[in-house]
Amino acid sequence: MNVKKAKYKNYRNLQSVTVEFSPGVNVLWGMNAQGKSNVLEGLYYFARGRSFRGAKDRDLVAFGESAAICEIEYEKDSSPVPVKLSASIPVTGKKKLYRNGAPLKGSAEMLGNFRAALFCPSHLSLVGGGPAERRAFLDIAIAQNSHAYIYYLSNYRRFLAERNALLKRHAAGKSVTREEWETYAEQLSIAAAEIYAERNAYCDALTRDVADYFREMTGGAESPALTYTSQMDAFTGECDSSVEAKSDTREGLFEKLTSNIDREAAAGSTLWGPHKDDIHISINGKEARLFASQGQQRSIALSMKLAEGEISKRLTGEYPVFLLDDVFSELDERRRAFIMDSLKGRQIIVTSCEPSVVPGGGVGDIAYFRVSDGKVEARENG
Ligand SMILES: Nc1ncnc2c1ncn2[C@@H]1O[C@H](COP(=O)(O)OP(=O)(O)OP(=O)(O)O)[C@@H](O)[C@H]1O
Ligand SMILES: [Mg+2]
Repeated sequence: MNVKKAKYKNYRNLQSVTVEFSPGVNVLWGMNAQGKSNVLEGLYYFARGRSFRGAKDRDLVAFGESAAICEIEYEKDSSPVPVKLSASIPVTGKKKLYRNGAPLKGSAEMLGNFRAALFCPSHLSLVGGGPAERRAFLDIAIAQNSHAYIYYLSNYRRFLAERNALLKRHAAGKSVTREEWETYAEQLSIAAAEIYAERNAYCDALTRDVADYFREMTGGAESPALTYTSQMDAFTGECDSSVEAKSDTREGLFEKLTSNIDREAAAGSTLWGPHKDDIHISINGKEARLFASQGQQRSIALSMKLAEGEISKRLTGEYPVFLLDDVFSELDERRRAFIMDSLKGRQIIVTSCEPSVVPGGGVGDIAYFRVSDGKVEARENG
């Protein structure tokens, strides 16, 4: 998959910008605060359905304007006919999304069209950070390849928020019927069983690819193991996506959610479910978060991102577009070269203050874009 063109209108500081990308390596360079990350954020908006920087939709609209418009044209390896996605994002009211001019119902319908794998400096702390970061990694990676996952995950989040509110009501002495508890337990269990099965399958693939990338990157004998850990492991023996495993997960979680209500009300939130999941990461049997060096933790995180691209390729037949926001400045020469080598032949869009950040040698032509004060200008070379 490769993005051919992107257009921005009143998108943050990009007043009116069109960028035509090369199918290979693209380097967006310029001083701080000029708009480089904004260009990537606009692209990734179509892969994720929202800003990767946690900004609300209305924050994407240029100060003083009423709406931002962002549009991309990308090509799939399997078809020479380009696809156009566009988003009209107002300061107030609902955003509008289109695919080849036809309106889409919402982000859920847009996801899975344009796929991108994003690396940014905060991802370098995937290993040392908290479980929420690793769950977010899983959710974003899986959602791009599975509409069912998006559906169950959004259901799960909605029911979880509602049940937590119910627990607070219960704690405040207001009555909640048995039937209400059971309805929530059932809905959450149905969604949780699907989420659990998908995360399990994804982590199985992930651990193999991460170990391969890590060994290659470090040139050493050690290799990391990534194990999906969930409270729901206790409900199923050997979990796969089989019908029995899902039904074991549903029943196990339903039982927990209907028999510990007072305890959960005292805690103020739901104590069981996939919102407590994590990926346990170890090197030679020792927990990486506690025992691996900073360098090893970074190498694992980078391997996870490269593996994300690999799994996406296996599931969909093509690589996503790789977006690297400012990561190279954080990495040593060896890791930079490894990334470039691993991503050879794929589309990569890199941002950096320095044009020379991308190691040369065997990667083919590099397209350079100078970003300055919200304008993007193609240059022959850096
Ligand atoms: N809604 C907005 N309207 C107008 N300008 C905005 C808006 N949101 C952010 N900006 C501006 O966009 C500018 C560029 O931001 P961006 O994050 O893309 O910079 P960058 O080139 O990636 O810089 P760095 O190298 O520091 O990462 C910032 O100066 C910021 O103030
Ligand atoms: Mg930036």
